This record gives sequence, C-alpha cells and structure tokens, in this order.
Amino acid sequence: MIFGRVKPLDAILATAEKKSLHRSLGAFQLMLFGIGCIIGTGIFVLTAAGAQKAGPGLMLAFAIAGAICVVAALCYAEIAAMIPVAGSAYTYTYSVMGELLAWTVGWALVLEYAVAASAVSVGWSGYLNGLITEFTGVGLPAFLAGAPLALGGVEGGLINLPAVFIALLVTGLLMIGTSESAKVNAVLVAIKVTALTAFIILTLPQAEMDKFNPFLPAGVFGGLGTGLGAVGAAATIFFAYVGFDAVSTAAEETKNPQRNVPIGLIGSLLFCTVFYILVAAGAIGTIGGQPIMGPNGVPFPAGSEELARQCATFSANTLPLVCSDEALAHVLRQIGFSGIGNLLGIAAFVALPSVILVLLFAQTRIFFVMSRDGLLPEGLSKIHPKWKTPYVVTAITGVVVAFAAALLPVGKLADIANAGTLFAFMMVAIAVMMLRKVEPNRKRVFRTPALWFVGPATVAGCIFLFVNLPLEAMLVLPIWGAIGLVIYFLYGYRKSHLGRGIVVVHESEVQDIDPGIPGVDDEDRR
Ligand code: ALA
Repeated sequence: MIFGRVKPLDAILATAEKKSLHRSLGAFQLMLFGIGCIIGTGIFVLTAAGAQKAGPGLMLAFAIAGAICVVAALCYAEIAAMIPVAGSAYTYTYSVMGELLAWTVGWALVLEYAVAASAVSVGWSGYLNGLITEFTGVGLPAFLAGAPLALGGVEGGLINLPAVFIALLVTGLLMIGTSESAKVNAVLVAIKVTALTAFIILTLPQAEMDKFNPFLPAGVFGGLGTGLGAVGAAATIFFAYVGFDAVSTAAEETKNPQRNVPIGLIGSLLFCTVFYILVAAGAIGTIGGQPIMGPNGVPFPAGSEELARQCATFSANTLPLVCSDEALAHVLRQIGFSGIGNLLGIAAFVALPSVILVLLFAQTRIFFVMSRDGLLPEGLSKIHPKWKTPYVVTAITGVVVAFAAALLPVGKLADIANAGTLFAFMMVAIAVMMLRKVEPNRKRVFRTPALWFVGPATVAGCIFLFVNLPLEAMLVLPIWGAIGLVIYFLYGYRKSHLGRGIVVVHESEVQDIDPGIPGVDDEDRR
C-alpha cells in the first residue's frame, strides 16, 4: 500500500509534454535563478544567530551545511536531468516510491518553499524598517512592523505589514510571466553578489587570527534539541543554502535540461559556499563573533529574551556581531566603512525580493504538478492564455505566504523551512538510489559520482542536521505531515489521476492502470 500507485517514468515525461510550460531558460539564467534563491536572509540576517550558537565555529557550520548540500545536489542533478519536469522531489518520489510518499514529499516542500518565502519576506521587512529608521530617525510603529509577541515576535507587534507587501508584490511579478521575472532576478543577483564581494574585499585584509580563538566556544555538539554548537549552527544556517534545488523545479521550463540542470544546480551551490565561508571569515576576523554566554558558561539561545536583554546593554558602536539585525552592514560600519555599510544594507533590501521570487516560483510549480496529477483541484493548474503562467496557483500561494509572513518571526520560519527541506533532500537521495536499482538501463545524462557513498551520505547528513534543529522546528514536520495525510485520504486518494486509471503515456493516448498496481493496458479512456 505504502509503495502503491507508482507513476511510470514514461507517463511522467509524457504528461509534461502534453501540458507543458514554455521552455525559455538557459544554463546561465538557471545559475542566476539558483543564486537568486540561495544568497539571501541566511547570510544577511541569520549570520548573527549562527555566531551566537557556534562563535567562530560558524565557518565550520557553513562548511558542514555546504558539504551536505553538495552531496544532496549531486543526487538532485542525476534525477533532475533524467526527469526534467516541474515538481522536483515530489515528481521523483512519485516515479519511484509511489503516490503516498510523493504526496508526503510535496506536502513537505510547502514547508521548504512557501515557509522559506515567508521567512525571507520577514527578513526584508527588517531591512526596510532599519532603512526607514536610518533616514527618518523613526521606525514603523511596532504594531505594523512585527509578529505578535505571543508568537515569538516583538513587544506590541500585531502584523508584519512590509512582509505582507513584498510577498504580494513578488506574487504579481510571477503572475505576469517567467521571462520578465527572470530579468528582474538577474539584476538583483548582480547587486547582491557585488555587495558580498565588496564585503569580502574590505574585511579579509583586516582579519586578525586572535579573533578566531576560541574557535569552538560552544563545542561541536551543543546537545540535541538545544540548537547549539557548530552542528546546531549548521542546522540553522542550512537555511542559507535552501533554494539550490529550486533550479530543478524549473527543469520543465529549461532548454536542453539534460545539460543545463546539473550545471545550474552544482554551479550555483559551489559559488555560494565559497562566498559564505569567506564572508563568515571576514565578519569574525574583524569584529569577532564570540557568543554571549549565560551564567553556566553556555551561550544564551539565539532569539531568546535573555539574549535580547544582554544585547540592550551595548551601545550601537560596541554592539557585538551576535546582537546585530543587519550583521554584515554592522561589520562594515564598525571597521570604518559606514557609507559602504549603509550601501550594503540597501543592497540587501533591494535584492532579498529576488530570493522570495525564486522560492515562490518553485512552490507554485510544485502545486501546479500536484494539481495536474489530480492530487489537488485541477483548476489550480490553469495556464493564463497571455502570460503563460499557472496564475491561479500563483495567486493563492502568494496570499498564503503573505499570511504566514504577517504573523511569524524570521528565525522560527527559517527553522521550519529547514525541517521540510531536509526531509525532501533525504527522499530525493533515496529515490536516486532506488531508481539505479529499478531502472538501471535508463539513460542518465548525468550520473552521480560514487552514488553508493554520496546517496547514503546525503541521507545521513539530512537526518544529522534535522536532529540538531531546535525541538519546536523538529516537531512541526510530523504534525504538518499528519495534516497532509488527512487531506490526502479525504481528497487526493480518490481524485488522483493515477488512482482513477488515467495516465497519459503518449501525447495522444491515455492508458489504464489498476489502482495501486503499476501496469498498463491498451484501453483508451478519453
Ligand atoms: N537560502 C535563502 C536565504 O538565505 C533561502 O535566504
């Protein structure tokens, strides 16, 4: 039952042919698309939280999370090039492990993409408020600038209005069409990369070795559920890498996907990993990045009330890295580059929407495919006659993302997104390994090197990071999964095209498949 309703690969490819999105993206655009999604709130906002958990060990944390993403990307590349259709981990799971697990993965991807889009919207809102304060001397009123305190937001918070605004604006861009949106994305990526390059050039020459000592003030392992130590920081700043897999969700809109998808995935990931480690070295080597310790010699939890109280005792000029909301701009100001620090703040403010854009894009394409498969209402996969985009599902996703962004703080949203992402990465690695066994002769344009090491390493790495998330974030995954299962058995199980025996195998044919049993006969049911 659990592995029932496996969708044959040929059927997946043919369904995509029949109702396909317009192929407009090339390798370079795809890498820009990936980088647009990867570099964002993780490095611009969560660096401070990472340093509070790990101190200079943050560099190690970036390396650990980056290494796990590289092995995961190698798995993604094989399967994304082999099954170049929209839907990412969801589609791959459908073809290997069956509908039930595919639904579970698709449902977990909502945590990855939609919740991450909400997180970045909230991060952007923080920068906007910082700039308003910088230029006018007064910030937005608390009730419009943050989530309610009861949900982990700010004192007096009610709704994060700027976050709602940006989520809806980006939704509008996506509805107008991919190619226009991709152009906007390219410009914003350039701004972001320029800002980080300037940061590295200005900070690294001033780095001092003694700032890295002690290197691991909270150890490597801070204890399960605490989120501390280098691995706790790795589990959180893993968010900084979320998005490289979005490249694979655009495979159906990519020219020559067999070549371009692996280049886009691995290229954008390696590029960002190098940047992150250099940025962390520059920040810590100049102003230091030691955590603020509690009375028992253990760092205060990032985002806690105790830490906020400690941070309030510093003046703007002496504020430690771990207390800053605009970590990178703060570093530049501290080392005498105030003007450039402000420019970097503006760059982050201008560029973070590109991250939201790619995350939202990925989410809408996954819903699009799930609806095309009958697991979600089919009206969602309607394509706009002029814009050529799945506009209905885009609009609905944007509203939901804006809603979450209005009510939850960035740290919580990021950790929840990480939980969903780690689950999806693990399932993809399992799917690649199973597919090598089940369909050994199918043509693979890109073969994951040393799969029997890389695959298990991805699975182990994902479980390892997951168990090092804060307890709350870990619990969200099974709860969200249970809600998904209820919806599946009430709706998707009955409406599924595969379950009803409708599977498109060639453009002009529909073949019967007995529910739950992969098999084919010749009857045309149309
Ligand atoms: N990786 C993306 C970011 O850091 C989601 O914002």
